[in-house]
Formats: sequence, structure tokens, C-alpha cells
Amino acid sequence: MRTFSVTAKNTQKSRIVCRGEVLSKALPAALRTYRQAFLFSDDLVWGLYGARAMRALGSVPVHTMSAGEAHKTPETLLSLLAAMAQAGLHRGDCLVCLGGGVVGDVGGLAAALYMRGIDCIQVPTTLLAQVDSSVGGKTAVDLCGVKNLVGAFHQPRWVFADPAFFRTLPAREVRCGLGEIVKHGALSADIFDALEQNRDRLFDRSFLASLVPANIAFKAEVVRKDAEETGLRKCLNLGHTTAHAFELLDGALSHGEYVLIGTWFEAEIAKARGGDADYLARLQSLVLTALGGIPALPPAEEAARIACLDKKNVSRSDIVLTIPWAKGEYRLLTLDAAEYGRELARIGRLLC
Ligand code: GLY
Repeated sequence: MRTFSVTAKNTQKSRIVCRGEVLSKALPAALRTYRQAFLFSDDLVWGLYGARAMRALGSVPVHTMSAGEAHKTPETLLSLLAAMAQAGLHRGDCLVCLGGGVVGDVGGLAAALYMRGIDCIQVPTTLLAQVDSSVGGKTAVDLCGVKNLVGAFHQPRWVFADPAFFRTLPAREVRCGLGEIVKHGALSADIFDALEQNRDRLFDRSFLASLVPANIAFKAEVVRKDAEETGLRKCLNLGHTTAHAFELLDGALSHGEYVLIGTWFEAEIAKARGGDADYLARLQSLVLTALGGIPALPPAEEAARIACLDKKNVSRSDIVLTIPWAKGEYRLLTLDAAEYGRELARIGRLLC
């Protein structure tokens, strides 16, 4: 068992525990301190783990959403909030989010908003949610074609990361989580070395489970220093500007797969600006092993237009990128939309 704490300025303490038997032991024990709990999940996860959760927790009210990023909407959020109100959930009660990143983001936002904030426990069931989205208190829904446009920072009271959930994870979801792990590798020399030295085991679930604590520790430390993304936490957006643009335009792949593509493209942008070419080529090679090849992508001009809407930008015409630079180093780069579009087109041509 490994435990990490995030105690950031102006936020409540968040404890992250990597351990087994979460549904049968850790979660029921944590809920004993609450008058009432409410469980939120999606229909796929509930089909796999609902019976086990109910056996462990007894008669807890439950609300499920349809699975998938397409349902990360204000409508899903409002329907959860209405179900919480109908169940009579009160300020001292607790919302449990059992699922992947979408369930965690929507549920976390509902916990932030309900009665101006109630406690939330995240039980992430995917690799991506365990190493990234359940940690750090970012919560959101998508709106008007912009990912995570409406959200709040709300640290979960507990995060319980149990590798047993990986047994039911589809291969596609494994690659999705690998996207955020490779992103951490682009920021942390230790994680990069572990990935490079084990590149033949990148899809081995027990190897990935062994990487979860180091990834959580890395992210928890970034969040501890900058919970509200005023500075350091921007590093965690590495590869994401390009990833979000392709994801919103195309949507055929998972978020983590687009993060891998975004990291590959942004490594190429870094090479053209003096980044460590040898290291960036090694990072790109790792990305390709994780991704298995770069698929056909939407036109560069369209991606640049979408990237202008990204909420990380400071103006409508300048695009802010967090790019890999050298081992364990990143840079923040601002490009105007036209230059960014030209870069995407140039890099797209390299792939033909
Ligand atoms: N997923 C990026 C962050 O939590 O800041």
C-alpha cells in the first residue's frame, strides 16, 4: 500500500491511496465517517462492479450516466445534481465517483457545486483516471465544442487506486492511460527511464500497475506546489493543446491516444526551436511504440482554428503550448494561430 497527500494552498487535504480491496475494504471504511453517501458511475462500469459495490456498501443511492466522453455535458451534470437532491444528500455527505475520467470529472464538478461543495471520493477504474484525472481536483464538463470549458477545482477527500480494476480494462483503455504516463515521462526523467527500459512491456498490465504509484507521486507533487495552475501545473498540459484540437475535430481515438499524437507533434515543434533533438527523437520513438503508428489526421488549418478556442490561451489568436524540450524539461511556447497552423501542416507532411 502507498499513500500520498496533497495539501495545497486554499484546498482541503486530499489523500491518495494505492492498494487492493478498495471496494470491499477501503471505501466502506472511509464512508463510515459520513451520514450518507451517494454513488455515481457509468453504465459500463456499473455493469462490471455494481453488484460488488452494493454488496460492500449496502443501500446507497446510485446514479449512472451513459459511458463516454460524448456524455460529459451540462445535461449529464444537471441530471446527477437532481438525483443527489432527490436522495436528500446534505452538506456533510459524500459523493463517490466510481469510474474513469469522465465519471470523475462530472462527479467531481457535481460535488463542487452541490450546496457549494460536499466531499467527494474518487475510485478511478481506468489507468488514465488513476495516474491523472482523479488526482489534483480538476473537474469539468465540455460545452460549445470546448473541452472542460466549465469546471472547478475541488480536491477529492480520498482517491483509492486499485490495480484490480485493470483486469477488466479493454486494450484501448490501456493505451489511453499510457498516453498520460508517457506525458509524465516527458516531464520526469525517472518515469522516462522506466518506460524506455521497459518498452517491450508497455502494455503489460502488471508493469503498468507498478508504474501507478510513481505517476501519482509525480502528479501529486506538482499539484501540491500549484493546485490552481498559476504556474508549474501548466507542465501537465504537455502535448494537450494539439491533442485537444485533433480530438475535438476527429474524435475517432481516445483522449490518451490524442495525447500521444500531440506529444509527437509538439516534440517536432520543439526540435525546430532548439530542443534536445536526440532526446526528442527518443521520446517520439517511445510515443510510436505506445501508439503503434500515427493515423490520418484532420487538416492542419482546421486544427489550428480549433486550438484558438483552447481555454489555456491568453488571447483568441495566440496559442499556448507546453512542449517537451530536453530530458525532464519542458517549455511554454506561444505561437500565433497562422504559425501554429503552418507547423502542423509541416509536421503532417513529414508523416506522409
Ligand atoms: N490533467 C492535467 C492536470 O490535472 O493538470
